[in-house]
Amino acid sequence: MLRGSRLVRPFQFQGTSSDWLPSSFTKGPAISAATNTILFLGLFIISAAISFSYWIQISNFQIGNSANETILISNKYQEPFKVIEFPLNCSIGSNINQTQTCPTSYPTTFGNLDDLEPSSSPVCPDYFRFIHQDLMPWKATGITRDMVERAKETAHFRLVIVKGKAYVEKYKKSIQTRDVFTIWGILQLLRRYPGRLPDLELMFDCDDKPVIRSRDFRGPNSTQVPPLFRYCGDRWTKDIVFPDWSFWGWAEINIKPWESLLKDLKKGNDRRKWMEREPYAYWKGNPFVAESRKDLLKCNVSDSQDWNARLFIQDWILESQQGFKQSDVASQCTHRYKIYIEGYAWSVSEKYILACDSVTLIVKPQYYDFFTRSLQPVHHYWPIRHDDKCKSIKFAVDWGNNHKQKAQAIGKAASDFIQQELKMDFVYDYMFHLLNEYAKLLRFEPKIPKGATHLCSESMACPASESEKKFMTESLVKSPSVTSPCTMPPAYKPQVLGNLYRRNINLNKQVQKWEDKYWENLSKQD
Ligand SMILES: *[C@@H]1O[C@H](CO)[C@@H](O)[C@H](O)[C@H]1NC(C)=O
Ligand SMILES: *[C@@H]1O[C@H](CO)[C@@H](O)[C@H](O)[C@H]1NC(C)=O
Ligand SMILES: *[C@@H]1O[C@H](CO)[C@@H](O)[C@H](O)[C@H]1NC(C)=O
Ligand SMILES: *[C@@H]1O[C@H](CO)[C@@H](O)[C@H](O)[C@H]1NC(C)=O
Ligand SMILES: *[C@@H]1O[C@H](CO)[C@@H](O)[C@H](O)[C@H]1NC(C)=O
Ligand SMILES: *[C@@H]1O[C@H](CO)[C@@H](O)[C@H](O)[C@H]1NC(C)=O
Repeated sequence: MLRGSRLVRPFQFQGTSSDWLPSSFTKGPAISAATNTILFLGLFIISAAISFSYWIQISNFQIGNSANETILISNKYQEPFKVIEFPLNCSIGSNINQTQTCPTSYPTTFGNLDDLEPSSSPVCPDYFRFIHQDLMPWKATGITRDMVERAKETAHFRLVIVKGKAYVEKYKKSIQTRDVFTIWGILQLLRRYPGRLPDLELMFDCDDKPVIRSRDFRGPNSTQVPPLFRYCGDRWTKDIVFPDWSFWGWAEINIKPWESLLKDLKKGNDRRKWMEREPYAYWKGNPFVAESRKDLLKCNVSDSQDWNARLFIQDWILESQQGFKQSDVASQCTHRYKIYIEGYAWSVSEKYILACDSVTLIVKPQYYDFFTRSLQPVHHYWPIRHDDKCKSIKFAVDWGNNHKQKAQAIGKAASDFIQQELKMDFVYDYMFHLLNEYAKLLRFEPKIPKGATHLCSESMACPASESEKKFMTESLVKSPSVTSPCTMPPAYKPQVLGNLYRRNINLNKQVQKWEDKYWENLSKQD
C-alpha cells in the first residue's frame, strides 16, 4: 500500500494549479545538492567522546563499561569502543518473487536501563512542555477507541505499535512522500529506543491545515475530541503536533535529512560574516500559495521605492531541471535579514531560515509546529506586522543596521536554538515523550488491524526509489542509543503559560510602538 504511493508520483511541476505544491515550503531554499552523501554515523558515534569503552552483545543488547576513566581520558590514541551497527540488509528474502522481509537480528529490548548513560542533557528543552498542553483535552477522560476512530475521517494512515513493532493501515495517499518519511522517522525512533515505546494506535493526517476545531467541541461535546496527529496547529484547533517529514529528508526537492543539513548550515554561517552580508531582508519562495505572500511581493525594491526588501520567486520548473542546485539552503545566509512568511499553513522552511544567523523577520504567524512555541520575539526573531508589511520590514532593517550588536545577537540566539535545542537527538526525544504521554492516556488495548502492514526499515528502504533510498540510508539509525532520552519537563502552570503569552504580546507591541514612532518622525522631517 505504502509502496504504491511511492510508485505513483503525485509530484509534478507543470501546471498552474500547483497551489498545494510547495505549500509548506516558502523559501525554497534548501537543497543541498551535494551528492557526497555524508553517512552520518548515528547518535552512537556522536557520544564517542564519552571516555568509556563499550561492549555490546548483539543477541541481548547489553552495554557495559570496563572503564579506567583516567587512563582513557589521557590516552587519545586508544580506540574508544566498538559499536555494533545494524545497517540495512536488503538481501533478506529479496529473491525475485519474494518480498523484502524484516530482519530479526536487530535488538528488541534496550538491555539493562541501569547500564545506560544518562542523557547528556538531563532535562529536555522547554518546547517539550507543550506536549502536556497538546494532550490536555484528554487529560481527564483518557482516549477511547471511539475517539481514535473518529479521527480517521481525514487521516492518511493509522499507526499501530504493538510489542515494539510498527504497523500501518493506509487510508489515502499524501502529498509527495510526506507519509513515507513520517513513517520512516517513527521506524528510526523504534531503532533508537528498542522496546521502550509503549503499545499504541494513532491517526495521522499529513495535510497542512489543522482540522480539529475547538469550537466544535464545547460544552457537552468537550469530552469527544478526536486525537489527530499532524505537523502544525493554531490557536483555534486541537490537533496534536508532530515533527514533519523533512527531518528525514524531502526527496522531491532534494533537501537532505536534518542531521547532516544542520552541519552544512553551520558551515554556511561561517562562509560570510554578518557584517559582510547584504544589509537587506531576503525572501525567496512561492508567492502563489497565499494572499499574504503576494502582498509581500509589493515590498520588493523598485525604481521608486526601497523598503529594504529583496524578494524572489522560486522558479520550481527551472530548479527541478537543474536538480535544485540553485537553492542550496546552506548557501543562503547572504543577507543580514531573512523573512519568514507562512504559506498555505506553517512552512517547513522556518527551521532553515532560523538556522542562518541572520535576523529572522517573522511576519505574524497563525500556525505553530512542535518547536516554535518557545521562540521569543526580539530575542530569537523580529516580529513583522501582518497588515503593513513593507513599512514594518523597512523599520526592522533600519533598526538592525543601527543596532548591529543587538541584531547579531538575535540572529545568533536563533541559530544557537536550532543547532542545540532542535538537534536530531531532541527531535527523537520529542517523538519519544509525545508517544509515551499519548499512550498513557489510551483506555483501550491497541490491536493490529486486519490488513495492516508490518513495516521495518528494510521493507521501506529496500524497494524505494533511488532518491528516497539515498535519504533513508543517510537518516538510518544504525544502533540503539547508549543514552536515555532527556527527562520530560513538567507542564506549564496555567499562570506561567499566561505570563509567557502576555510577555510575547507585550514584546510585539513594544516593537510596533518603536515602528510607529519611527514613521512619525520620518513624516515630520518631510
Ligand atoms: C586506573 O588507573 C590508575 C592510574 O593510572 C591506576 O593506578 C589503577 O591501577 C587503574 N585501575 C584499574 C582498575 O585499571
Ligand atoms: C543479510 O541477511 C542475510 C540473510 O539473513 C545474511 O545471509 C547476510 O549475511 C546479511 N547481510 C549483512 C550485511 O548483514
Ligand atoms: C516468479 O514468478 C513468476 C510468475 O509468477 C514465475 O514464472 C517464476 O518462475 C517465479 N520465479 C521464482 C524464482 O520463483
Ligand atoms: C455537539 O456535536 C454534535 C454532533 O457532532 C453537533 O451537532 C453539536 O452542534 C455539537 N454541540 C456543540 C455545543 O458544539
Ligand atoms: C525584486 O527586485 C529585484 C531587484 O530589482 C529583482 O531582481 C527581482 O526579480 C524582483 N522580484 C520580484 C518577485 O519581482
Ligand atoms: C527622529 O529623527 C532624528 C533625525 O534623523 C533623530 O535624530 C531622532 O533620534 C529621531 N527620533 C526618533 C524617536 O526616532
